[in-house]
Amino acid sequence: MAIIFNEKEKVFKLDTISSSYMMGIEGQLGHLVHLYYGKKIKGDAAPAGMPGINMAQKIWFMDGNPMEYPAGGCGDFREHCIEIETEEGYTALEPVYASHEITKGKPALPGLPATFAEEDDCTTIAIKLIDAPTGVQITLFYTVFENLDVITRSVRIKNTSDGVIRLTKAMSGCLDIGNEEGYELITLHGSWGRERCIERRKVARGRQGVSVERGTSSHQENPFMALVSPGTNQNMGEVFAMNLIYSGNHVEVCELTNGNLIRMVSGINPYKFSWKLEKDDEFVTPELVMVHSDAGLGKMTRTFHDLYRKHLLRGKYRNIKRPILINNWEGTYFDFDTDKLLAIARDAAKVGIEMLVVDDGWFGNRFDDNRALGDWFVNEDKVKGGLKYLVDEVNKLGMKFGLWFEPEMVCPDSDLYRAHPDWAFQIPGRTPALSRNQMVLDITRKEVRDYIVDSMSKVLSSANVEYIKWDMNRALSDVASLGLPADRQGEIYHRYVLGVYELQDRITTAFPYILLENCSSGGGRYDAGMLYYGPQIWTSDNADAIDRLTIQEGTALVYPLSTMGAHVTDCPNHSVGRTTPFETRGIIALAGTFGYELDVTKISEAERNMIPEQTAMYHKYNDLVREGDYYRLASYSENKVYDSYMVVSKDKREALVTYASVRTIAGYPDPTIKLAGLDEDTVYHVDYLDRDVCGDVLMNYGLPVRHEHGDYKARLYHLTAV
Ligand code: GLA
Repeated sequence: MAIIFNEKEKVFKLDTISSSYMMGIEGQLGHLVHLYYGKKIKGDAAPAGMPGINMAQKIWFMDGNPMEYPAGGCGDFREHCIEIETEEGYTALEPVYASHEITKGKPALPGLPATFAEEDDCTTIAIKLIDAPTGVQITLFYTVFENLDVITRSVRIKNTSDGVIRLTKAMSGCLDIGNEEGYELITLHGSWGRERCIERRKVARGRQGVSVERGTSSHQENPFMALVSPGTNQNMGEVFAMNLIYSGNHVEVCELTNGNLIRMVSGINPYKFSWKLEKDDEFVTPELVMVHSDAGLGKMTRTFHDLYRKHLLRGKYRNIKRPILINNWEGTYFDFDTDKLLAIARDAAKVGIEMLVVDDGWFGNRFDDNRALGDWFVNEDKVKGGLKYLVDEVNKLGMKFGLWFEPEMVCPDSDLYRAHPDWAFQIPGRTPALSRNQMVLDITRKEVRDYIVDSMSKVLSSANVEYIKWDMNRALSDVASLGLPADRQGEIYHRYVLGVYELQDRITTAFPYILLENCSSGGGRYDAGMLYYGPQIWTSDNADAIDRLTIQEGTALVYPLSTMGAHVTDCPNHSVGRTTPFETRGIIALAGTFGYELDVTKISEAERNMIPEQTAMYHKYNDLVREGDYYRLASYSENKVYDSYMVVSKDKREALVTYASVRTIAGYPDPTIKLAGLDEDTVYHVDYLDRDVCGDVLMNYGLPVRHEHGDYKARLYHLTAV
């Protein structure tokens, strides 16, 4: 059994394949205390005994002991998980154990994305805590995935009193760890065009971490943090990682207390958060994924990848090759019509591209980015002959067809805004801040969500559209809803995220054959919440092959390669002006979903002639890249010279090594890269070297990669068991 309760000692023990998590019920007041998280240990007794309370010194216990779901006001002065306010204005909470239940399987989270599994794959414990004076009931859910080092958590908070309770903070989970090791903190920081760069720092005294108040999970800070022992690298070191399955404002706090204890807390950002709970109302927090690794960051990464591929991604495309697409955005921007699109499709079909995606500009009066968002009807001046004609012609070429939408937005210059100015977020008496000439629709309102679903559905049913790029190009500001009373305005940010989830759920349920790719000015909403609805996300608007090494390294630290939208674009690169070889751009894009974003009729003959070879490589390697185990071998963002990663099939019979030589340095010896994840006794044929080499040699001596003369060169080495 993965979860046991030691009745005598009042200890709960949760076991994954190689980690253990323990908590216990303190004997005097019934506090749920944290006892252990780390490498799997035997036995089910509290490792150092159950902490006791000396009532004359209760604050010593409250403020110094590791806790499972700490609240404020009764002596714990560290970062809390929950804050409330009663009708009288009281804010203190002291939840204590009431009951628990252990069940096979895992309950769904109402209205929220979450991991899922068959009954036999996981076990869940729900521990009920109660704060008698306020009637606040807190149920902590922990699910153990038996074959992965994963524990997921979520919390349900219920008002069992007769009065109204205002919930002002509701975190998804907490982890208290002794800092004897002197831990370091890793987060994923970024901006537009530079998403998810790995940031690492020593944990200092006080509170640190990341937080986002933009309304989306953001380019700036991903909802991820990992605590690592000093010296942790890909292969060694202890890692405690948290990833929040959420797409809105979030916080990841790491506090080093005076008692040399680290408290990690993650959840919805309390910034402008206030949720009204009437009698019997319940609030459900987003799910928090905790991964433990006793063997470095590489093992953590592979655990996240396995979890998300098997227990988060859904739909027709979760386990299959995605069609190789060509997107017209960087190729044409707004300047296209049916003839131009069909010319692109014709040339694309000849070189093995399988789907045409028409990006921004096909609808309403959208000739530039100053107008028409919200008007989801086809612009027949551009799409001459109508959408069905265009799609049918593309289908006749043997290609699929996809379309861009930005459903959550409206431009002041649009029919939609003229008809419903109150549907956009704005505060009466203030002029709302525009961004790219657009405002955010108040999707906390049902009539607005219905409009979006109806108008999108009309387009999607009018032609054979098999892919959607769902974009979201600005942060939320001027947040006020005319649909909510004054005492519920603090619910808007979270209700907005719930609205996004409902919209994507309705569209993917009504059109289950459609492949949904999310996007937010590139990778501004790249999180596990969005991956529940669509199995891929546009990683970054910056498709420069060299910048992508860093962006894709950071993204793949947590999220599977099969989720990373990656395209070959034209040069000089539109984001950074760099020119890289076409071949290199293809190799780097192979690490993701693979596609093109250029006008194939305008690139050089020589480049066009390389595409059939690239599309063939995609078909040859994608099963391996999508499903295999990912190993990071060298990091250009660290060494500033070259980058390397590999993917090994689960049966270890096949592997693909990518080597990118970013800078040529005179006199610099050819690197020999130690491979990983192979079977040490198997002999592999290395295609590029045309040699048979044993796995233990490749992993201990290494793979001598050939010196690439000139900058920005990349090469693939395919290994097959002999
Ligand atoms: C965003 C996306 C781009 C493109 C444009 C269209 O910036 O990230 O890929 O779709 O919008 O306006």
